[in-house]
Amino acid sequence: MEFFEVVKGRRTTNGPFLPDAVLPEHQRTLVEAASMAPSHFNSQPWRFVLVDERAKIEEVAAISGQSMTRLMEEGTFWKRYRPYFRFSEREMAERGDGIFIDQMPAALKPFRKQLFSQAGQQIMNRLGVPKTLGEDNRKLVAGSPLLLAVLLDRNEYRPEALSGFYSVFGMGAAVENIWLATVELGMGIQFVSTPMEIPENWEKIKRLLDVPDGLALMAVYRLGYVPRDRKRPTIDWQSRQRKRLSQYVFRNSCSTPESDGASGERPV
Ligand SMILES: Cc1cc2nc3c(=O)[nH]c(=O)nc-3n(C[C@H](O)[C@H](O)[C@H](O)COP(=O)(O)O)c2cc1C
Repeated sequence: MEFFEVVKGRRTTNGPFLPDAVLPEHQRTLVEAASMAPSHFNSQPWRFVLVDERAKIEEVAAISGQSMTRLMEEGTFWKRYRPYFRFSEREMAERGDGIFIDQMPAALKPFRKQLFSQAGQQIMNRLGVPKTLGEDNRKLVAGSPLLLAVLLDRNEYRPEALSGFYSVFGMGAAVENIWLATVELGMGIQFVSTPMEIPENWEKIKRLLDVPDGLALMAVYRLGYVPRDRKRPTIDWQSRQRKRLSQYVFRNSCSTPESDGASGERPV
């Protein structure tokens, strides 16, 4: 594939993967692509755990689903992430960022705007939304043929030191290489982020992966091959929009936004 096609085709996969195992050579390609990323002094502070054992994937899935249900029921999710939600295509187009829940059961649509109020929270809990979302999440993770845990070497990842920042920077580059490689391989990837939001659940994941004291568990992803006919989860969001150049690029100083050009088109 053309490089820019790959960059433009990179996406977060919200839906299910095919059940097919990820070929060993593809797993190898992903982690080798990661290792090509830049790092401070070529320190390569990243470590990866490839998880393809069914029982382990299902344990992670159960923790992920429970975490999702709890975050939703307690309202933590909505409180923490309120600023990123958009409520219409128009709002997305104007701002060019954030996420828009464009797929939800008809019964919920009238409450879209109240999602973030206490009343909305109660309605959602009464309708069993947290359980639905938790179960959707569990199934998505359990149905993934491969999980990838990303870790950092604590000798480098010292949050109080500059090398802590550098390590995170390098890890981001390594993960982006993996993310781009998935496009070429016909695969998809998504963060399994809910356990990280509940410290005791994150500890459970660390124990499952035998993470030693010298490594910091930073993220877990689910990966697999993407089906041609993509089925979306019950409640789903989209985030294809991007800011216009004038919203994020400046010329010579932060006082002069870059022009959007004649068409005002977005870069991707
Ligand atoms: C640091 C970071 C955390 C993210 N957390 C999540 C997450 O918890 N769940 C998820 O589905 N996607 C997560 N994403 C993916 C973003 O939601 C996604 O990249 C963004 O909405 C743009 O969509 P796209 O990747 O399809 O272009 C995360 C991405 C980054 C870089």
